[in-house]
Amino acid sequence: MDQPTAPVPPPGCPAHQAGGRVPLYGPEFAADPQAYYTYLRHYGPTAPVEITPGVEATLVTDYASALQLLQDSGSFRKDARRWRDFNEGRIAPDSPVLPVLAHRPNCMYTDGAEHLRLRQSITDSMARVDPMQLSQSVEKISDFLISQFSERGSADLIGSYAKQLPLFVFNELFGCTADIGDRVFFGISGMFDGVNADKAIEVLFQAVGELVALKRRNPGEDVTSWLMQHHTGLSDEEMLHQVALLLGAGAEALVNLIGNTLHRLLTDDRYAHEGGLIDEAMDDTLWENPPMTNFAAHYPVADMEFAGQKLTAGDLMLVSIAAANTGPALSAARKAGSNRAHLAWSAGPHACPSKEPARQIAVTAIENLLNRLPDVELSVPEESLTWRPGPFSRGLVTLPARFTPVKPVSRPARRTPTQAPAREGAAAPRQAEQTGVWSKFLNWLTK
Ligand code: HEM
Repeated sequence: MDQPTAPVPPPGCPAHQAGGRVPLYGPEFAADPQAYYTYLRHYGPTAPVEITPGVEATLVTDYASALQLLQDSGSFRKDARRWRDFNEGRIAPDSPVLPVLAHRPNCMYTDGAEHLRLRQSITDSMARVDPMQLSQSVEKISDFLISQFSERGSADLIGSYAKQLPLFVFNELFGCTADIGDRVFFGISGMFDGVNADKAIEVLFQAVGELVALKRRNPGEDVTSWLMQHHTGLSDEEMLHQVALLLGAGAEALVNLIGNTLHRLLTDDRYAHEGGLIDEAMDDTLWENPPMTNFAAHYPVADMEFAGQKLTAGDLMLVSIAAANTGPALSAARKAGSNRAHLAWSAGPHACPSKEPARQIAVTAIENLLNRLPDVELSVPEESLTWRPGPFSRGLVTLPARFTPVKPVSRPARRTPTQAPAREGAAAPRQAEQTGVWSKFLNWLTK
């Protein structure tokens, strides 16, 4: 997007008033974040923003500066216990940004040797996921979800598909029983819907705690058991926070990656006319409409100057992945062919450790949907689509689509590994009364 010659704050932006911080929330921001990023660039590589009323941050909008920050772990740290405004009591205990920003003992909020240790346990355990099995599992789950709406000829591809699929996949990957899976599902969905988030987080941690206890007794071939068996020797508390991080960090980002790529495929004729180029649509999404937008919180260790800006130790710094990826200076490099140099997965020591499986899950989910519903198309005008508010991520509220109704695909014949733990251990007595979505899927497989 071109820089305006004289910077004009986007409509409704309180930066119209002198000294105002630019708000990264509210319906105006959600409707046109790129207008905000264009405006923010006039401050230089960093800009003063507010991410929810009363919570200030310095936003890095320039690609080179973002990369510099992400790679300089000597000057910028991830441990949120350095956050000055929080430590000095300026952040309300019920602030909606705390579930994402507050410190937890997992690899996202640690630095140095502690980070390396926690991260190693994740990378090694995720590396044991068999890509072939993962594809089969995603296809099976995708078939189940499509079978719930394929005869109707219409569906909301966010609520009925993109939002559900990652959670189903995680339940399989992490070896959840039906009972635990239903509560993980409830917890993660509630956390990101922002409705009763405290209750949702409580349910999630309770369910993950039970999962950890179950796998200590009955290890299986799943990521939870592999993390537990890892030579770094994670304690139960570390297990709880690492598993909750994997579920939480993965689910929100994956929903948006699937949803934003589907949005691009259904609204841009270029991809349709060229035979549905899913990989290309996904790369373009990761550049121009990334799932995580203003994220990767870091804190300067000392007072310093950075990209021409004075910073104080403990300032909240966020990287605008969405602005950095779309900066005017970048388009030339992008055209020159460095097609995966975007920051959608972040960069440096905390870059997403799961980008290969995440991409594989998203591509398989989209491919299978387009194969099953080849004439799927948007059923409302593109301009009527709305985006969820919030500073950290970007995803649609709904993606209404229509297609020629098709009969549900038949269930896979073979019993899958997921079903074994569903019948054993602590959750068994509650099996009969299960009505949750994960239980419904397990029933679909066994009937
Ligand atoms: C299977 C799905 C996924 C899992 C399990 C997962 C897991 C994680 C974990 C554990 C971290 C923390 C790494 C660390 O601090 O060392 C992380 C970071 C990150 N992930 Fe993912 N992720 C997934 C999908 C995605 C997707 C689809 C995106 C967006 C395209 C994404 C973007 C990011 C970003 C930007 C960070 C950096 C966060 C920060 O520095 O605060 N992730 N991810």
